[in-house]
Amino acid sequence: MKDNDILVIDLFSGPGGLGEGFASYIDDNKNYPFKIGMSVEKDLHAHMTLTTRAFYRLAKQKGCLDGYYQYLNGKISRNDLFKSHEEIYRSVFKETLEGPCELGKDNDHIHARVKELTENHNGPKILIGGPPCQAYSLAGRSRNAGNKNYVPKEDHRHFLYKEYLQILSIAKPDVFVMENVRGILTAKVENQLIFPQILKDLQNPSEITESEACPSYQIYSLVEKTEEGDKSTADKLNYLIKSEEFGIPQARHRVILLGVREDIQQIPDILDKNIYPKVSVKEAIGDLPKLRSGLSKKVDSYDAWQEVVSKNAETLSKLHNIGVDVNKTHLQPYKDLNRKETVHKNKSSNQLPKHLKQWILDPELNLVLNHETRGHMESDLLRYSFCALYGEQRRFSPKAENFPTKLAPQHQNWNSGSYNDRFRVQLANKEATTITSHISKDGHYFIHYDPKQCRSLTVREAARLQTFPDNYIFEGNRTNQYTQVGNAVPPFLARQISEIVFSLLKKHYGNL
Ligand SMILES: C[S@@+](CC[C@H](N)C(=O)[O-])C[C@H]1O[C@@H](n2cnc3c(N)ncnc32)[C@H](O)[C@@H]1O
Repeated sequence: MKDNDILVIDLFSGPGGLGEGFASYIDDNKNYPFKIGMSVEKDLHAHMTLTTRAFYRLAKQKGCLDGYYQYLNGKISRNDLFKSHEEIYRSVFKETLEGPCELGKDNDHIHARVKELTENHNGPKILIGGPPCQAYSLAGRSRNAGNKNYVPKEDHRHFLYKEYLQILSIAKPDVFVMENVRGILTAKVENQLIFPQILKDLQNPSEITESEACPSYQIYSLVEKTEEGDKSTADKLNYLIKSEEFGIPQARHRVILLGVREDIQQIPDILDKNIYPKVSVKEAIGDLPKLRSGLSKKVDSYDAWQEVVSKNAETLSKLHNIGVDVNKTHLQPYKDLNRKETVHKNKSSNQLPKHLKQWILDPELNLVLNHETRGHMESDLLRYSFCALYGEQRRFSPKAENFPTKLAPQHQNWNSGSYNDRFRVQLANKEATTITSHISKDGHYFIHYDPKQCRSLTVREAARLQTFPDNYIFEGNRTNQYTQVGNAVPPFLARQISEIVFSLLKKHYGNL
């Protein structure tokens, strides 16, 4: 690593969405200034994804991507790929800490590597990634509310951020970028909001870690400007980033904090809402090959599926006053659909806006990765047909009260509270709703807008809505892949953040 490279330490890396944004930033001299020195991830499959992607990056830099594309094509195995490029593999294996690692459990190994990297690097360094706070998340809290034995103070996930502070104390980075769910703003432990406390801790990490002296940090927002000389406002700022305002085809709202070490007298820019147009679901995924869903609990074939979907069209056409005009032909499935496609035949028909075309498409890649549907029950397919048709005609996704009684699932909470939008179609002409890791459980919140495909989104479609490049492969089985995609920071948003961090460091160092 050169002195003017920016060392990146990525914690809780998931599949590497945040890291991808930083690692892909290209400066005016056509260099990639951000170099990921280490990624820490405890999940085996996310770790595999990170390692494969790290391999891709290094092989690209060295101009030897042939093996990588052969791997994507299924011509060689992942092991063979790594064996045939041992030097690259050794380097990326080190970057991902030689295996999955858990903060809190494998601290000796993790801390030693942080020390080694930071002590040997004279240039700028940054820390990215946020501790996962499922316990803070709104969903987590409503689930826990019914659990009499749940004691928030004893939930160790509340305190994973202290592991983060510990690394902050060791690495003393110039800048940190910490991401979290919006629920962190309102989460309470023993009736006290925890967010102000987190801000305080991040401003003065050594008060908590009691380890080596750590400098203080000024916390900035990426959506609300701090004025010169007005540094006492950290707890009054708005930290909520609405991804759809920044060219992402998804209404993902996340808290992102930017910490700047106190000796750096620069105020960061904020994200610019006026650069990229809004992007709809159809623009983002419309070119991907059409697929049918599978049939669970039944022999699965195109003919059987086609029969079910056609029968559903018939059933819907006999229902009255259901809020939509059911034209059966509109619901007739496409001919000869498969559950999986690997060749991207319609690539040139894509409607991606310019910024995402450049970011997502790879001219060398004629494949579609991770594009295979899951199976659904017959009764759910009827609901999917209805939702897709409703979304198309009414331009919103039907809630429980909009469903015909005949289609209501046998669920006691169906008409109340959080279950009444148990089925949600992702509208063609709007941005998607948040792609969460719940997508790994079932597809009900992620119904494809096209009634003739009658299915939920594939991993690749979810990855597109998260702005992962098409050559980004997700390892593990389909459930693992969905979880990874749902967990990530949209890489294209991360790239915009990296630009702000680069500009701040450049102003400070002058010679980057
Ligand atoms: C929200 S995801 C991070 C997403 C990532 N920043 C991205 O943009 O792709 C959080 C990740 O932290 C990992 N994780 C949770 N606890 C961990 C721990 N104690 N040590 C290491 N990784 C952990 C989870 O497996 C999960 O993949």
